[in-house]
Amino acid sequence: MTDIVFVLNGPNLNLLGTREPEIYGSTTLADIAAILEQKAGEIGLTVDFRQTNHEGVLVDWLHEAHAAGAKAVLLNAAAYTHTSIALLDAIKAIDVPVIEVHLSDPATREGFRHLSYVGMAAVDEVKGLGANGYAVALEKAAAL
Ligand code: DQA
Repeated sequence: MTDIVFVLNGPNLNLLGTREPEIYGSTTLADIAAILEQKAGEIGLTVDFRQTNHEGVLVDWLHEAHAAGAKAVLLNAAAYTHTSIALLDAIKAIDVPVIEVHLSDPATREGFRHLSYVGMAAVDEVKGLGANGYAVALEKAAAL
């Protein structure tokens, strides 16, 4: 196992900062990456921070985290959280523990966000804490 934590972000999260700020806040994804990289350095971890709008790319990156012997994956699969059996299968297929992350709390939003395929295989979750949730999830990863 290495000290690398993969931080994988799904569709539309590249627009954080301007995307529905009343729900997701005004912090950009680049801001979150910078905060996490600093925090990771302080606690002796390395983060590999990525974003894609494509479901299969997330699957490939989960496999890559496994092949790299990553310590953990922080996964905000965004809308694919609620739709993707492929992501559920990928999480079950790899040895790396996955922590589910969301800026908002999907359980308090529309009914179609209440189902989480990611949550069926994730070891932990951080929801509803906004951008700070990523740092909380990194602390959880460090404690695994
Ligand atoms: C989200 C919640 C999802 O329901 C939504 O589709 C997103 C963002 C969050 O971080 O709050 O795109 O994952």
